Formats: sequence, C-alpha cells, structure tokens
Amino acid sequence: AAAVGTTVAACDDSPGQPIPEPTLGLSFPTGFVWGAATSAYQIEGAAAEDGRTPSVWDTFSHTPGKVRNGDTGDVAADHYHRFAADLDLMKSIGLSSYRFSISWPRVIRDGKGPINQQGLDFYKRLVDGLHERGITPMATLYHWDTPQALQDAGGWENRDTAYRFAEYAAAVTEALGESVPTWLTLNEPKTVVQNGYLNGGHAPGFRDPSKAYVVAHHLMLAHGLAVEAARPHIGGGRIGPALNLHPCYPADESPEAAEQTHLMDGYENRLYLDPVFRGEYPRDTLESIAEFSPMAKYIKDGDLKIISAPIDVLAVQYYTPIYVTATGGTVQKHPLTEAFWQQIYPRGLTDILVRVKKDYGDVPLTITENGLPTPDQLGEDGKVDDAGRIAFLRDHFAAAHAAIAQGVRLESYHVWSFMDNFEWQEGYEQRWGLIYVDYPTQRRIPKRSALWYSDVIHANKV
Ligand code: NOJ
Repeated sequence: AAAVGTTVAACDDSPGQPIPEPTLGLSFPTGFVWGAATSAYQIEGAAAEDGRTPSVWDTFSHTPGKVRNGDTGDVAADHYHRFAADLDLMKSIGLSSYRFSISWPRVIRDGKGPINQQGLDFYKRLVDGLHERGITPMATLYHWDTPQALQDAGGWENRDTAYRFAEYAAAVTEALGESVPTWLTLNEPKTVVQNGYLNGGHAPGFRDPSKAYVVAHHLMLAHGLAVEAARPHIGGGRIGPALNLHPCYPADESPEAAEQTHLMDGYENRLYLDPVFRGEYPRDTLESIAEFSPMAKYIKDGDLKIISAPIDVLAVQYYTPIYVTATGGTVQKHPLTEAFWQQIYPRGLTDILVRVKKDYGDVPLTITENGLPTPDQLGEDGKVDDAGRIAFLRDHFAAAHAAIAQGVRLESYHVWSFMDNFEWQEGYEQRWGLIYVDYPTQRRIPKRSALWYSDVIHANKV
C-alpha cells in the first residue's frame, strides 16, 4: 500500500530524472475535494460474469485490427474481483472522492427489460465499500459501453436508445440514488460522436459524418431524459453531464484563423454546452452540420426543453488545447505526450474553466478527468518513477488554482486515472494511472506520483 505521508524528497533517488518542485506554495480552499477516476470497461474485466451481456466495446475489441495488440477488456485490471483491495489503496493514498462508471449491460441485460440484480449488487458493494472507507462515490451512468443488443437495433442513431437509457438511469438511481451524492449522465458524448462515428477509432467504429450528428442529438436527448428520470430518486444529490472541453485558439493572427477557431469551438464545445445551458444548439454549428448531416430533422419539438433540464453540476474533463489555422486545420504548439493528440498546456485548463463561468453562469464545477500517459516501468527496486506525471499534475493543479482565484466555483479534481487500464484503441500500452498495474500478476504498485499526490491531498496544497 502507498506510504501515506511519504515525501517526494524521500523518493528522489533516481539520478537524471527532473526533480519536480515539492511545492508551489498554492493552498486550495478548505474542503476542496481530491479524487481519481476510472470507468467500468477499462478496469473491471469479468466480461461475462454474473449475467453481464456484451457491449459495443466487447464486439469492437474482439474484432481483429481494431485495438492495439489485439487487447480486450475481458480481464482488464480485474477490478470486479479485486475492488476491495483497490478501495483500500484509495484510502491509503487519502482520496476523498472516487469517480467510477456503471456498466449498462451488467445492470440491464441487453439494455432492455428488468434489472439484473447480480450485476447491480456489484455496484452496491462498491458504493458501500467506499462509504466504509470514508470515500465519496461519484457515479457515471454511461462511459461508452452501449449494450450490443441496442447497437444491433441502431444504437444512438435510433431515438429509442435514449429512452432505454432513461429507464436504466431510473433503475440505477432508484437503487443507489440515496448513497451516491453526485451522478454524471454521459461521459464525453463528443468522443462517441467523433471517435465512434467520425474517425471510427472507437466502438462502434463508423466513419459517417451524416450519422455522427444524428447520434450527437440522441446522446444529448439521452442526457436530458436521464436527468428527468433520475431526479426523483437522488434526493438532495446532484446530476450533470461530463464534457470534455477543448479550448480552441487561433494558430495565427489572421481574421480567417479567428473565424475558423470560432467554428471549431462550435464543434468542440458549444454543440454540447449550449443545448444544456441555453436550450438551443449553436446556430453556426447547426448550419455547418446541415451541409452533410440530416441532424436537424431528428430534433423534435420539446427536445431542447428536455436537454436543458436544470443540472446541478458540470463535470469538466481537460486534456489538450486545439490550435486552428486559417484553413481550419490544426497545428501543434506545445510538447506532445505519448497520446499523439495531447499537447501539454496547463493554461488551457484555467481558460476553459473561466470561460464556462463567463458564458454559461456560475454552475458548480468538478474536474472529472485530467492526466496523461507516461512510459512507466517497474524498476528493479520495485518502484515506478513517473516524474513526468508529477510535473504535469502539479502544473495543472496550479492552473485549477488560478481559475479558483478568478472566482470559478471549482469544487473537486479527479485525476485520470486511479490505475493503469484499458486505454480503448490503444489497449494496455499507454499507462495513465497513479497506480501501476502489473497485468500478468495483477499486482498494484503505487507510482511515485501516487505518493506525491497523497502529500498534496494531505496538505491541500501544491
Ligand atoms: C477520456 C475518457 O473518458 C477516458 O475513458 C480515457 O481513458 C481518457 N480520456 C484518456 O484518453
């Protein structure tokens, strides 16, 4: 288990590694919540256990050529069987919040019909286990594992899937609504649109712009319907969507670049924020989409009222900025991480948080994901020295601190990820965790960043 209170200095015995500043002297507000995040398919394994039915990710990962090295989530980090020890580890680090996701095809077989009690019971055990250890649960209802049976009936292209999702949201919150204070409806609907339906890198693997934005609308509808369905069951709890926001900047000073940046911002941010907060899709984005997708025809009277049902919290996930050229292309301006799409720019986090407050009002915010993959290796001394992760997190924590100083109502921060896991089409090669997972033995080894994070949490200071 992590040695609580281990100082960074005590671990600094590796020559040649950049030694991060132990502290920048930035204290967070009293009560600021520090946590970490995961998702069901990425860590649970037990893919066919206790009545779980396949999701689109089982199908996709078992299709040759779709995932690096042919990796699948069949076993993953085996969290389904090892959750109690994993929760102990969370406690030893000092996490006060844990964000996980609930597997739809575990709880409702094939996405339709009655609850699968055995599947639901896993999440009851998980939530109880968190409470026993003084860790607050935060649950995501949808982290991309659409039941395959619903996909076979059209998936998110089919409006019916949104209603099936609302039924599932009602069932889960009826059972757990009182014991989970924060509920997140959809994780990154934009990634489903862009990776699932535009570039095909994620399940269900389409490359069809026409479909993609029909899917976008049905996802947003599903969000709104789920808020309505869950509301009666969550008591004083809170609910909102988890959106990955990308601050967009012009790559040069030309008016064309400014114009293209605004357009890009529509596709990256406003398409998901505006319907929730303003009850309308951004007009420029809709006009652009109309050139290649029949999305508008799928928007029925009353849909935007449903989508704009009041939310209590907005979950923000930040990874990278986007720089837009005069011709609408994108360029790199900062160092990349091992994830080829991620530029390291902490300031982007401050910018996007401040912008949400300015454009959408003073809704409470939580950061539900931020992190990076690093080339972690288990050393002969049994340690994992991920100095790059420490530097990255330190600078992003400082960026969050700057947003708070500017009056943003940021309440909590969840590092992605608690432990190494199945990174979708990259399989297990990229390691995003605070905890190293030795997959052949399933041994967990807290990386140096986990020990450092533990110190940050205890000091409430970076
Ligand atoms: C966002 C996704 O929600 C998560 O599942 C993924 O692993 C991280 N980004 C890193 O790519």
